[in-house]
Amino acid sequence: MKHTRRRAFEKFAAFLAASPLARPQQEPRYDPEHIPTLDDIVNIYEFEPVCRHRIPKQNYDFISGGVDSEWTLRRNRSGFERITFRPRMLVDTWNMDLSTTLFGEKIAIPIFPAPTAAHQLAHPQGEMATARAAAASGTLICLSSNSSIPFDRVAKASTGPKWWQLYAREDEESSIERCLRAVDEGYKAIAFTVDGPYNSHRERLLRDRPLTQSTMPGVSTGTRRKRPAGEPAEERHSYGFQTQLVARLDWRFLDKLLNAVKVPVLVKGILTPEDAELCVKHGAGGIVVSNHGGRYLDYAPSTIEVLPEIVQAVNRKFPIVIDSGFRRGTDVLKALAIGANAVMVGRPILWGLGAYGEAGATRVLRLLRDELGIAMGLCGKPNIASLDPSVVKIDR
Ligand SMILES: Cc1cc2nc3c(=O)[nH]c(=O)nc-3n(C[C@H](O)[C@H](O)[C@H](O)COP(=O)(O)O)c2cc1C
Repeated sequence: MKHTRRRAFEKFAAFLAASPLARPQQEPRYDPEHIPTLDDIVNIYEFEPVCRHRIPKQNYDFISGGVDSEWTLRRNRSGFERITFRPRMLVDTWNMDLSTTLFGEKIAIPIFPAPTAAHQLAHPQGEMATARAAAASGTLICLSSNSSIPFDRVAKASTGPKWWQLYAREDEESSIERCLRAVDEGYKAIAFTVDGPYNSHRERLLRDRPLTQSTMPGVSTGTRRKRPAGEPAEERHSYGFQTQLVARLDWRFLDKLLNAVKVPVLVKGILTPEDAELCVKHGAGGIVVSNHGGRYLDYAPSTIEVLPEIVQAVNRKFPIVIDSGFRRGTDVLKALAIGANAVMVGRPILWGLGAYGEAGATRVLRLLRDELGIAMGLCGKPNIASLDPSVVKIDR
C-alpha cells in the first residue's frame, strides 16, 4: 500500500481510538432524553459513563480514580491479557452450578461487592441498596468501615450474609471493639485491610479540591492532620501523611485481633507469597489478594499476575479472595481456575448504583454471573469444584 500522509494520519487516529488512554477522554454527553435504559446495558463497562453523567464530578473521580499515574489501575486490566483458556469439548455442562461455600456459608455466585467507602456518593440509598442487591443475587456483601450508613443499619437492610472490613486506627483497642460490635450485629467475617499504612496521592482528588466542599468520608481533601508532639516536621509531606495513619501497625496487631475476634479474619491487601505465608502462620482465616483497585501503591502488580505464586505458597484449602480490575466473567473464571475461591468487585458496583440505583448494582452482579456461567460452559466446566489450573494458559 502506498504510504501517504493521509494513510499515516488514519493509522495514528485508529491507534488513538483503540488505546485505553483515549477512553477517559470520550465523555459521552447524554441528552437527558436519550440516556440508555438499564435494559440497553450489555456489559458492566457501560455503567461507568452513565454513572459519570449522573453524579457530581468529584464523587465520580473519587470512585473511579487511582493513585499517581494510575499505572496499576491500567495494569489491573492488562494483566488479564496474558491469560487464555484451554477449553475442553463434549462435556455435559447442562446443569451449570456457580454456587460456592465460604466459611460454611453457601453463596449462589463466587462474586460479591468489595468494601468500598461511602456508597451515598453514588446514590442516596447507599449501602442499603448495595446490601439488598447482593442479597437478591444470592451473594454476600463486604461492608466498608467507611460506609456512609452505619453497619447496624445495613445489617438490618437485608437478610443476605455480610462481612465487615476494618481499617485499624491508632487506638488498637477501639479497632478491636468495632470488630466485636460488627460481629454482634451479625457480620460473619472481618476483612482487615493492611495496604494503606499511608495515605495515597490521588491526583484527581487534588485537582477537585475546590469542588470538594466538605470532607467526604474516606476522601482526603489534602488538609493536614495535627502533628503529634515529637513528630519531626520533615516527616510531613506536601500531600500530607494523614487520615488512616496506621504506619505503626505490624503482625502483632493481627495476633491481637485474631485472639479477640471469634469469626474468620481475612487479611486484605496481600500481594506477595511471603506475606501470604505469614498470614497462614499467624492463623488468619484467609487473605484477600488486592492492590486496593490501584488506589494506594502505584506500580504494585496486578493481582491476577501474582495470584499463581500466592496460590503455590499456601495450602490449597486456605481461602483466597481476590479483587482489583475484575470486569468480565472471563476475568473471574481465570482467577478461580488459578486457585482463588471468590472475586470481589469494587467500582462496577458503584457505577451500577450511581447509574440506576439498586437495580443497577443488581444488574452488575447478574451480568458477571451470566458471563461467568457462559464462559465456564464454553470451557466444559459445569461447577466451581471442577475448575483447576488446566483451564488456563499463562504467557510468561
Ligand atoms: C471508591 C472506592 C472506595 C474504596 N474504599 C475502600 C474501603 O473503605 N476499604 C477497603 O478495604 N477498600 C476500599 N476500596 C478498595 C476495594 O475494596 C477493592 O479492593 C477495589 O475497589 C477493587 O478494585 P476494582 O474497583 O477495580 O474492582 C475502595 C475502592 C474504591 C474504588
